[in-house]
Amino acid sequence: MEKITISKLWKMKNQGEKITMVTAYDYPTALLADEANIDMILVGDSVGMVVLGYDSPIPVTVDDIIHHTKPVVRGAKSPLIVADMPFMSYLISIEEAKRNASRIIQEGGADAVKLEGGKNVAPIVKSLVDVGIPVQAHIGLMPQRASIEGSYKVQAKNIETAQEILDDALALEKAGAFSIVIEFVTTEAAQIITEKLKIPTIGIGAGPHCDGQVLLSHDLLGYYKTQPPFAKLYTNLNKIILDAFNNYRVDVKSQKYPSKEYSISMDNEERKKLKKI
Ligand code: KIV
Repeated sequence: MEKITISKLWKMKNQGEKITMVTAYDYPTALLADEANIDMILVGDSVGMVVLGYDSPIPVTVDDIIHHTKPVVRGAKSPLIVADMPFMSYLISIEEAKRNASRIIQEGGADAVKLEGGKNVAPIVKSLVDVGIPVQAHIGLMPQRASIEGSYKVQAKNIETAQEILDDALALEKAGAFSIVIEFVTTEAAQIITEKLKIPTIGIGAGPHCDGQVLLSHDLLGYYKTQPPFAKLYTNLNKIILDAFNNYRVDVKSQKYPSKEYSISMDNEERKKLKKI
């Protein structure tokens, strides 16, 4: 498949073709996402929780994102690769936002960056887009903020909050974002936002009307025992891996593994010489 570009994503929205996006933080996952013709890969700051064992995305650094983006870029040739700007890496000053975003693009090899926020981050989005860095925005539930506030609640449950999120989305589109992730928002609000925007919306827990969907690969693969309520389980890696580890442990303890089949012997001539040792 040829490389997915931003203009291809825009065309997909205009033609009503749904866009697919998954997270990946390593080479083997990136290879498989590419082979499965996934359109976009997100090197999310969710790496903090699902790979690094933190309980929020807050400790994730720009260096962590670059470290995890590099193998994804080596593994995935066709998908458009978006990497998250971690907590506070874009909010201290425009200069710092530009420096960190350009490191993620130049050192990590990402095609675009993603950052969380509404109208408040529109000037930052504009200043990055103005210097040639493509930006995907992220509205609705914003994990960096939610983990500090401690509230993981569905957003836009009434007209007033739906209007606020729509205003945020319009401001981010005007600032030059090429796409917007909408997380954990009511289906109705996500539908209105999708209809009002020219750029593609990518939903996560935001119903079926978004232009595309993103899921954490660890959620759709069932790597952990629990998933968020909106994540459909496409396989159960937790059970598959646990069974394999248990079977391996039993085989080694009972000396079933490694059997002759998995062992390498010297040839006969050499074996005879063993007696001389
Ligand atoms: O970090 C991440 O994986 C994300 C998704 C929740 C969209 O931002």
